[in-house]
Amino acid sequence: MIVLGLETSCDETGLALYDSEKGLLGQVLYSQIQLHAEYGGVVPELASRDHVRKLIPLLEELLSQSGITKKQIDAIAYTRGPGLMGALMTGALFGRALAFALNKPAIGVHHMEGHMLAPLLSDTPPQFPFVALLVSGGHTQLMAAYDIGKYEILGESIDDAAGEAFDKVAKMMDLPYPGGPNIAKLALNGDAQAFEFPRPMLHKDLVFSFSGLKTAVSVQLKKVQGEGREADIAASFQEAIVETLAKKSVKALKQTGLKRLVIAGGVSANVRLREKLENDLSKIKASVYYAEPALCTDNGAMIAFAGYQRLKNGACDGLAVTTTPRWPMTELEQP
Ligand SMILES: Nc1ncnc2c1ncn2[C@@H]1O[C@H](COP(=O)(O)OP(=O)(O)OP(=O)(O)O)[C@@H](O)[C@H]1O
Ligand SMILES: [Mg+2]
Repeated sequence: MIVLGLETSCDETGLALYDSEKGLLGQVLYSQIQLHAEYGGVVPELASRDHVRKLIPLLEELLSQSGITKKQIDAIAYTRGPGLMGALMTGALFGRALAFALNKPAIGVHHMEGHMLAPLLSDTPPQFPFVALLVSGGHTQLMAAYDIGKYEILGESIDDAAGEAFDKVAKMMDLPYPGGPNIAKLALNGDAQAFEFPRPMLHKDLVFSFSGLKTAVSVQLKKVQGEGREADIAASFQEAIVETLAKKSVKALKQTGLKRLVIAGGVSANVRLREKLENDLSKIKASVYYAEPALCTDNGAMIAFAGYQRLKNGACDGLAVTTTPRWPMTELEQP
């Protein structure tokens, strides 16, 4: 079965073709970073309009790159939510209409389930059950994943998401968006022990909070202004986030008795996080799984793959297009 995946939940237009026999046939991605840069954040209406402009040319590019014709597409999966309403509508309507024209099934996919299943596309995919650490621009969650659609939330952030904290600290340091990769790069030349930033809620169950850490960094930045300590601040801040994520992940593994940790979402591309988790998990004989960097941030491949998991069991949506800007993952059902 060849599934076309469409991702338009925020500021990336991502399309991909996933073949259940051959794996990924191709993928294309257009990032709107430049478009929103001058506003300091994503402008929803501009995002929607740009998805509309890009969807058709990107589909043409994907088909020619993959050597596939529209008629060979067996089903279409699009992001139904969570995300920006207008942006979601563009991909959902485009996907639903194309599926109707081709007389093929279409299905709306949960964006975070897409992120969480992306590591299953790797050469050494994890088996269920596992604990998932979802760390992206909008989410920080620990989930127990027993099977497709059988998820339980173990803990989440009560304020900023991990990726959001990276982005906000980067902004304070005048680093360009997205902040995560830029902080990580700067941190390479810094001393992670230089500043003792708070590890928020380290001993409080599996709840995360990153807004206090952000404030602590802001205070420290002012104190050392002009001293050229940016790399040390970046490294110390990154270490505080990484250590918090690692400690809570270990706690979640112990609490559930599970031995596999899947990390997904943009922050899972962070090299220091991967290194720390590999080290800490080896001590408790557990293993960590993640996707290749390009599949950590938003992309169409994860949507095609997550859609396939449901389509293969015959699930598909009707002709009505539903988008769900707020959609807890625990509301999903097993296909
Ligand atoms: N190497 C990295 N280190 C730390 N953070 C990173 C890295 N690469 C990307 N990020 C962060 O990942 C986030 C983007 O990830 P992603 O595309 O998964 O999030 P999103 O789609 O905006 O949010 P959500 O999926 O919750 O709706 C940004 O906050 C970015 O700073
Ligand atoms: Mg995302």
